[in-house]
Amino acid sequence: MSKPKIAIIISSTRASRVGEQAAKYLESVASKRNDLSFEVVDLRDYPMPFFNEVASNAYVPSSNEVAQKWQQKVASFDGFIFVTAEYNNSITAALKNALDYAYPEWNRKAAAYFSYGSAGGARAVQHLRDICVELQMAPVRHSVLIQGNDFYPIMNGEKQVKDLPYLKGLTETMLDQLAWWTYALKDAREAAQLAS
Ligand SMILES: Cc1cc2nc3c(=O)[nH]c(=O)nc-3n(C[C@H](O)[C@H](O)[C@H](O)COP(=O)(O)O)c2cc1C
Repeated sequence: MSKPKIAIIISSTRASRVGEQAAKYLESVASKRNDLSFEVVDLRDYPMPFFNEVASNAYVPSSNEVAQKWQQKVASFDGFIFVTAEYNNSITAALKNALDYAYPEWNRKAAAYFSYGSAGGARAVQHLRDICVELQMAPVRHSVLIQGNDFYPIMNGEKQVKDLPYLKGLTETMLDQLAWWTYALKDAREAAQLAS
């Protein structure tokens, strides 16, 4: 089996987002592992319109060229870590749109979460877990949350994500769980492909 590839997806696109530094921190911890490879994927690089296809690409191929590029990108990964911002108790509109623009490309792959917000982004992550199940992904149990008193100084630019030493251990636990599920599911996908 080739080394599984994991996308670190930045869910926010606004100019002054925290998401980018969170993704960079996550990548710096993750890239120390040698069992998985990682790539930061920025939704800004996939400026899709609000969903405007005749159906999900589970049923009808998408006509939008950026959407096709996005689907190919998603298909190239074996698992995903969503760097999850919380907007009005849920995920960003940009991430929901990007999730809706693919279907088979998400299926039977593991998903993990690294979030931030007043309540650690927990409400957004709970919504996202539910969406991931509908997309036939396998969400891992352990997620990393930056909350309240730790998050506000980061949001205000007074501190950085990398200034929180406790995140490293939490991130490593999340990555361990993601690795287990990613290997199990890649093996199962490849066995199913051989059998068919
Ligand atoms: C439209 C909007 C809605 C927000 N709603 C919430 C919320 O429901 N809960 C929360 O903890 N923070 C909320 N916030 C604050 C965000 O947690 C904070 O701005 C964070 O930095 C957003 O992620 P980003 O910087 O990557 O865009 C909201 C921010 C925006 C822009």
